[in-house]
Amino acid sequence: MDFSVESATATVVESFRDTRDPRLRAVLESLTRYLHAFVREVRPSLAEWNQAIEFLTAVGQTCTDTRQEFILLSDVLGVSMLVETVNAQQTGTAGTVLGPFHMTESPPRALGDSIDLIGGARRCVVSGWVTGGAGEPVGGAQVDVWQCTEEGFYDVQQPDLQPPGNGRGLFTTDDDGRYWFRTVVPSHYPIPTDGPVGRLLEATERHPYRPAHIHFLVTAPGYEELTTHAFVAGSPYVDSDAVFAVKQSLVVDFTESHDESAAAAFGVATPFIHARFDIVLQERL
Ligand code: BEZ
Ligand code: FE
Repeated sequence: MDFSVESATATVVESFRDTRDPRLRAVLESLTRYLHAFVREVRPSLAEWNQAIEFLTAVGQTCTDTRQEFILLSDVLGVSMLVETVNAQQTGTAGTVLGPFHMTESPPRALGDSIDLIGGARRCVVSGWVTGGAGEPVGGAQVDVWQCTEEGFYDVQQPDLQPPGNGRGLFTTDDDGRYWFRTVVPSHYPIPTDGPVGRLLEATERHPYRPAHIHFLVTAPGYEELTTHAFVAGSPYVDSDAVFAVKQSLVVDFTESHDESAAAAFGVATPFIHARFDIVLQERL
């Protein structure tokens, strides 16, 4: 049978019939159906399809060891959040996107260490408990955190201005499941706009900003891995994140504290800004 608009999908789906891996076969069949439906609906001209290929080529060519433009594209299309949400743990702390800036290893640090290596102005302490669903403390959990500076840049974006590992730390909870570290209050910031994804945002009149946040990747034996953020309450763009990652349960108050005993326990002077972010992991079944 000749390849036609009507027969195309069945023909291509059939071409995958000998795929041994059943999951791969199902994924390719579904991809074929949706892509073909897209083409039938949009009816792109050859010039438009060429433009689409050129755009995806530019996305790939923008990727380097320290820049992931494909993740960024997935983020601004809401696909990263959708994948995160369909896989989300049913209980405990909500998950959000990983984002493209977790491409270097966070340096292991002791509880209470500062991840601000450049002496920012709005110093703060972030602390909390990591527990399981029944409230049991999860000692020995790995709490990997990364954030931008007060000016809104990650270390990898400013290799000449920031030492590697600035704004990053890998902490291990104590026996009570507690973690705490010193840092600065991060700023809201624009996602990178100097590549093809930036051009897409511009063409669609979307702003590129993310509300201020600290990333967390928490792992512990016997529990599901959790990728999430603590968002700074009151930050600009908290209601219009360019990558759709805000969940209200993750918006945290960063408040000025004059509590002398808390300051002494954290090894800081008063007043200091304190953010409490407790993390509940879901047991692995
Ligand atoms: C981030 O929060 O690091 C991020 C997430 C998605 C796109 C760009 C940046
Ligand atoms: Fe970020």
